[in-house]
Amino acid sequence: MPNKHAIIEKNIGLMIVLIVVAMSFGGLAQIVPLFFTGETTEPIAGLKPLPAVELEGRDIYIREGCHVCHTQMVRPLRAETERYGHYSVAGESVYEHPFLWGSKRTGPDLARVGGRYSDDWHRAHLYDPRSVVPESNMPAFPWLFENRIDGSKTAAKMIGLRKVGVPYTDEQIASAQADVDGVSEIDALLAYLQQLGTLLQRKR
Ligand code: HEC
Repeated sequence: MPNKHAIIEKNIGLMIVLIVVAMSFGGLAQIVPLFFTGETTEPIAGLKPLPAVELEGRDIYIREGCHVCHTQMVRPLRAETERYGHYSVAGESVYEHPFLWGSKRTGPDLARVGGRYSDDWHRAHLYDPRSVVPESNMPAFPWLFENRIDGSKTAAKMIGLRKVGVPYTDEQIASAQADVDGVSEIDALLAYLQQLGTLLQRKR
């Protein structure tokens, strides 16, 4: 009896088609169930769109690449919840565009860092990490203390986010520029950091 598998092995076009079919089954099996679980699209109780200053703080976080060294995703494993607190749930991220779960932990996870340190600690740490954590290899971000935010694009950002389902109100959009104009970058970043993950309880 001829080896039927040889037919596929000798026909590269057929093999490509069959590989794509096999892979899409795997993908669909993972992705499709997510469309049917409300949990992934329902915000958790108390979740609100970030106010203007925190939204700009988040953009500074992205600009400076904080998410490249820090995840925002506490996994449901004992070691993680002992250290960081409640594991991350999908409903916390429904207003996140793009999400900042990250994949690499050069530094600790920041999903629940809100309230963990004082503003003064964060200021000292971001100005010069070695001043508070001598063995730290985190970069310093001294320019955040000089730069001020230009709020001319904040309203447009909110309008964009509203298009993808973040419920910003007309009032928030109307006052966005006035809310952030002239705020220092460090203050905006701190406002963002200090609320991270605070809706679900975090262990000390
Ligand atoms: C090159 C990698 C790197 C980058 C980029 C980076 N960090 Fe870090 N971060 C670390 C490391 C390593 C630590 C642990 C040592 C320390 O506390 O300084 C840390 C610690 C922290 C901590 C303390 C967390 C805790 O639970 O103790 C905070 C808060 C923090 N970083 C915020 C930031 C912010 C905000 C940015 C962007 C402005 C940033 N980091 C960018 C590597 C990085």
